[in-house]
Amino acid sequence: MSTLSFLLEGLRNIGTTGTITRSSPALCTAAIDRIDFATARTIVELGAGDGVITRHILERLHPDGKVIAFEVSEDLCDDMRAIGDPRLVVAQDSAEHIRFWLDKIDADLADHVVSAIPFAALPPELGNRIVNAARDNLRSGGCYNQVHYSLKTKSYYERAFGKVEAKRIYLNLPPAWVLYCKK
Ligand SMILES: C[S@@+](CC[C@H](N)C(=O)[O-])C[C@H]1O[C@@H](n2cnc3c(N)ncnc32)[C@H](O)[C@@H]1O
Repeated sequence: MSTLSFLLEGLRNIGTTGTITRSSPALCTAAIDRIDFATARTIVELGAGDGVITRHILERLHPDGKVIAFEVSEDLCDDMRAIGDPRLVVAQDSAEHIRFWLDKIDADLADHVVSAIPFAALPPELGNRIVNAARDNLRSGGCYNQVHYSLKTKSYYERAFGKVEAKRIYLNLPPAWVLYCKK
């Protein structure tokens, strides 16, 4: 999807996209920091958009690995399907249905979860359901990395995971945060 189309998609659905720009290379790199790609085989991505972070994951993912990328917009899912990587499972679904999609690929638990879901724009009940589903389906020792433009919903991750480390990423428009949690 072109940058202009992405901007228009963002404006059309601002209540679910939470942004009109995609993550910069620096933010994508920070979003997948802490993932041990040598051992990871199942990575779950929430709010994948047109796959900008997904591509960074695929570059480093083991040949036998899988990424389940959740996205609710049909157009953005079409962009991800066009990536055409057999390791990518595009889940055109709401992110709380992680268990269903892990079962689909016969995976017990996710090794790591990366999320860019704009929780501040979603109802708190839905946000907490998604974060809890991510935690419940994450293996012990796995990381949960959350991309955000504010720290408004930091308490969601503190409640689910306990300790949360926040890192500011200035090389992004607007400057963003990545919140790192561990199960
Ligand atoms: C801030 S954008 C991030 C896009 C891309 N990952 C990036 O980093 O540029 C958030 C995305 O989350 C998606 N989204 C919102 N609610 C969702 C939900 N309940 N389940 C899955 N995706 C959702 C939106 O459609 C949007 O594409």
